[in-house]
Amino acid sequence: MAIVKRRDLDYVVITLLVGSSIYVFITGLIADAMGLHHFGFHSQVGYLWVALAVTHLIQTWARVKAFVRNRFRERSDKIFPTQKLTQPLETVKPTEQSTSSQPFTLPHKGRRNLLLFILAIATGIGFERFVTPQKSIGPGEANQDIGLLYHRWSQPGYGETIATILNWGQQPALYKTYPNSQIIELPSVELSDPSSITTLDLATTITQRRSRRRYNTQSRLSLKQLSQLLFLAQGITWDEREFRTVPSSGALYPLEIYPVVHRVDGLEPGLYHHAVEKHQLELVKAGDLRQPLIKAGLNQDFLGEAQVCFVVSGIFQRTRWKYHERTYRYVLMEAGHLGQNLYLAATALGLGVCGIGAFFDDPLNELLGIDGEDEAALYLVTVGEVT
Ligand SMILES: Cc1cc2nc3c(=O)[nH]c(=O)nc-3n(C[C@H](O)[C@H](O)[C@H](O)COP(=O)(O)O)c2cc1C
Repeated sequence: MAIVKRRDLDYVVITLLVGSSIYVFITGLIADAMGLHHFGFHSQVGYLWVALAVTHLIQTWARVKAFVRNRFRERSDKIFPTQKLTQPLETVKPTEQSTSSQPFTLPHKGRRNLLLFILAIATGIGFERFVTPQKSIGPGEANQDIGLLYHRWSQPGYGETIATILNWGQQPALYKTYPNSQIIELPSVELSDPSSITTLDLATTITQRRSRRRYNTQSRLSLKQLSQLLFLAQGITWDEREFRTVPSSGALYPLEIYPVVHRVDGLEPGLYHHAVEKHQLELVKAGDLRQPLIKAGLNQDFLGEAQVCFVVSGIFQRTRWKYHERTYRYVLMEAGHLGQNLYLAATALGLGVCGIGAFFDDPLNELLGIDGEDEAALYLVTVGEVT
């Protein structure tokens, strides 16, 4: 049953090999550039590539064997010149299977090779389907903890990653600014001499850290203390490029800090924004915001008793354009890092501090003037002198 000539089939295999090599190379570059450690569209074609390579080797096996044998004989002739070839080179013919003009009829061995080939592809698909976690929500899962579903859904390495690549959108600006606001310069922080900020050593600071909720409602923070707190929270610490005191996935820095000032020397009470690039404050809204803040914070009175409450928000697109479904995880992790920076900075400066996660989102976002979607409040941290 002559269907395809062996050589024709080999051309098809070689063409597919070259095509899949280019594809694997390009998707490998994409996966590397975007940190997609398991990239379905890359690995599946990788398996196909291996299958094609094995097929190619099987088809040309007779020629490969003859080539290797000839080479070996040439070498052994040089090493042992007296030894005679038992068979002249020209007479080493490819076996019947390699005869190019011979029609390919899928003999017994051929069928086994085809089976191997299909098995290789099936392994690739099987790995993708069963070994990597799946995103779809199965029946009965819709009532589960949505956080758990998100956690599973946001695991990396899905084949459809490439399909959503066009929806990842643009990278937004790294800095948020309030162009028409009143600007307050913050006292600069001496980067070259960190001991000018605090002399408390790290281990003591960590072990002394505690959440404190009883603040002295009479005392005030100095502008210098506020400047130090903001700088240590996420100030810019140049290296070979911009880095900050806080770690950030891809150094994309999605977080903003809004100090709600109750009692700080030289500042009228109100909502401020930390313009991190120039280490300045921008006055967003002047006024006594203690009551709306306490209300948004589930009536936790100490929110209005501390000298300042830092509201940390996240601009998700800053991370999303690169990390897509991992974004929410990363932004929350980073808010935790920043919160810990504030905890340690306040402790080292001899101030009380408390992180607050319990708040009503809508009123808090409204207070900040953000929409809660593109940018949302994530964490509150009160700081002040304690009683
Ligand atoms: C994410 C997070 C959210 C928190 N939310 C609140 C809160 O809403 N109100 C509060 O009084 N304390 C809050 N805390 C502080 C914890 O109650 C405190 O860390 C815990 O009691 C351990 O005490 P310690 O921080 O002094 O070691 C929060 C802490 C974290 C890390």
